[in-house]
Amino acid sequence: MIEMIGTSGYETISAPNQNSTAVIQALLASGNAAPMIAEIGIGIGATTVAMATLLANRGELHLYNFREKVAELTADLANLGYTTIKGFGNTGRHWDSYNWTLGRMILGGREAVYDYIYIDGAHTFAVDGLAFVLCDRLLKPGGYLEFDDYNWSFAASCWMHENRDQFMTDEQISTPQVKMVVDLFLHGNAVTRRCNRTGCSGRRPIGRQAMRQTLWTGAVGHSTLSGIRPSQLRWPSSARASRPARCSSSMPCCRIATR
Ligand SMILES: C[S@@+](CC[C@H](N)C(=O)[O-])C[C@H]1O[C@@H](n2cnc3c(N)ncnc32)[C@H](O)[C@@H]1O
Repeated sequence: MIEMIGTSGYETISAPNQNSTAVIQALLASGNAAPMIAEIGIGIGATTVAMATLLANRGELHLYNFREKVAELTADLANLGYTTIKGFGNTGRHWDSYNWTLGRMILGGREAVYDYIYIDGAHTFAVDGLAFVLCDRLLKPGGYLEFDDYNWSFAASCWMHENRDQFMTDEQISTPQVKMVVDLFLHGNAVTRRCNRTGCSGRRPIGRQAMRQTLWTGAVGHSTLSGIRPSQLRWPSSARASRPARCSSSMPCCRIATR
């Protein structure tokens, strides 16, 4: 699969997400010698290869996508000597997605697994709204959750051009659906869950407006200043008031990640 990186027709998914490498560098620099990373939606592996290179077999990199794609990419990376990459595939059936795999993982007793989850999959409200709920539980307190393509819409893409109106209304085609997920769930999340851990910078109540503003400024700032793909958003795991003891002291729970 990785032989397609940089070839004609794959231009939009050939550049690695710079945020992903920056977050991994930050995790390693913070003393985390074995980061647990998930990429949800792998494309042709552009970001995966960059992350695998940085990790250099430290920690684990978990890949979620359709089975065939995951199998192909994990094989490519194994051939390059990367031994800590694990694939989690789902079928292409209409209502199947990585959400089923993520949900099963949680039901199997796994929670607070990842230091960083990069969500760049279906880009639909229906799929990625639930992906947020599941990933929020799979993220370690203090971890980073990133949604790619905050402003992306089907209308601005040729993806599913021939049959999209069988699946969506005109409004849903023109609405940036990742933005809808982020605006609905992440904004509210910051307000409703505060960290009570002693010493955490978020121990005092955080005003809804202040938090919202920080999030927006961060999002706009990143896309404008660093020239990365539009409106990528990083978000630290919501501080879970019910589990304050697990907060990491090096990464305050209520901090907005900045680079
Ligand atoms: C934009 S690409 C990901 C690009 C990649 N993250 C990168 O940075 O290079 C989106 C991916 O999501 C996957 N995807 C979309 N819907 C899915 C679903 N229902 N289940 C599993 N994977 C899905 C697609 O197959 C595609 O590989």
